[in-house]
Amino acid sequence: MIDGKKVLFSGMQATGSLTLGNYLGALKNWVNLSDEYECFYSVVDLHSITVRQDPAELRKRARNLLTLYIAAGLDPKKNCIYYQSHVSGHTELSWILNCFTYMGELNRMTQFKDKAAKHADNINAGLFTYPVLMAADILLYQADVVPVGKDQLQHLEITRDIAQRFNAIYGDVFTIPEPYLGKAGISIKSLQDPAKKMSKSDENANASIYLMDDTDTIIRKFKRAVTDSEASVRYCDEQPGIRNLIDIYCACTGKTPEETEKEFDGKGYGDFKMAVGEAVASELKPLQERFGELVKDKAYIDGIIRENAEKANYYALKTLRKVQKKVGFPERVR
Ligand code: TYM
Repeated sequence: MIDGKKVLFSGMQATGSLTLGNYLGALKNWVNLSDEYECFYSVVDLHSITVRQDPAELRKRARNLLTLYIAAGLDPKKNCIYYQSHVSGHTELSWILNCFTYMGELNRMTQFKDKAAKHADNINAGLFTYPVLMAADILLYQADVVPVGKDQLQHLEITRDIAQRFNAIYGDVFTIPEPYLGKAGISIKSLQDPAKKMSKSDENANASIYLMDDTDTIIRKFKRAVTDSEASVRYCDEQPGIRNLIDIYCACTGKTPEETEKEFDGKGYGDFKMAVGEAVASELKPLQERFGELVKDKAYIDGIIRENAEKANYYALKTLRKVQKKVGFPERVR
């Protein structure tokens, strides 16, 4: 609890360009949670280097992502928006938690298996212990809730296991976090293969809508989206392509799948795809415009980076000092 409010933590990687999946699955929900919780939203740049990055590019993307958080509607006075690398507590707690995490647990992580297969030439130890750093992010702020997409649930589960294990040894040190999946627990799929999630790292640019795509590009990608053979707009397992488009349409318009089925009853895929494209374009337009204004205001963004890193550091240190004492590190002498 901070000032009588429950604490919320979440983060995104500054790797690749953000997709509609990141927005509808995470960022859009975050904005609605700001009043209810004391929120920490991090640009998790430490996680990004588990895959080889171009330094200048990473710096640029990290800043763009931080700016995008604000453009999406997160008020940086109310929400602590900061770079993970600016708060050394993340790395320090991560080390300690590594010593309370089993190899067997990490071996089961599906994201590790996927990424290891994708980056076979660079299966580094950081990629393996990635979930421990994620646990440190969350536990450092004593977060009660963690809004994430479905793909991160396994990491939330291991975070809870690590925290419970630590608490069982040392007493009530960590708050046990709950995942927050949003209303639908939505998982946006690739436009080219609805069996896969829409991902920043997809090599096929037509598979993903990027948040900075212009209207024409968005509509073109939806027109090309892989659909099914029934030729009717029905929300069912047999039509995973159409189902994904209905999810996207509903997330942007606030309609339900049933309302959408009715709206497009008797119409073909073409009309529906066009409507989805337009709904997405108008959802993203205000965000793109606000982003365009914010990037020009360097001093404003710099101020936020400075102030929020201080705030995050304050809360992080509180937990870290407690943990260090519990595990038996000598106290600092002033
Ligand atoms: P990342 O950067 O891959 O994704 C950021 C958020 O977007 C969600 N997401 C999706 N939701 C629905 N459909 C999709 N296609 C889709 N793709 C991505 C993710 O679930 C996530 O919520 N390890 C995390 C970042 C992280 C973190 C944390 C999150 C680091 N520390 C602590 C929460 C708490 C990641 O790589 O997310």
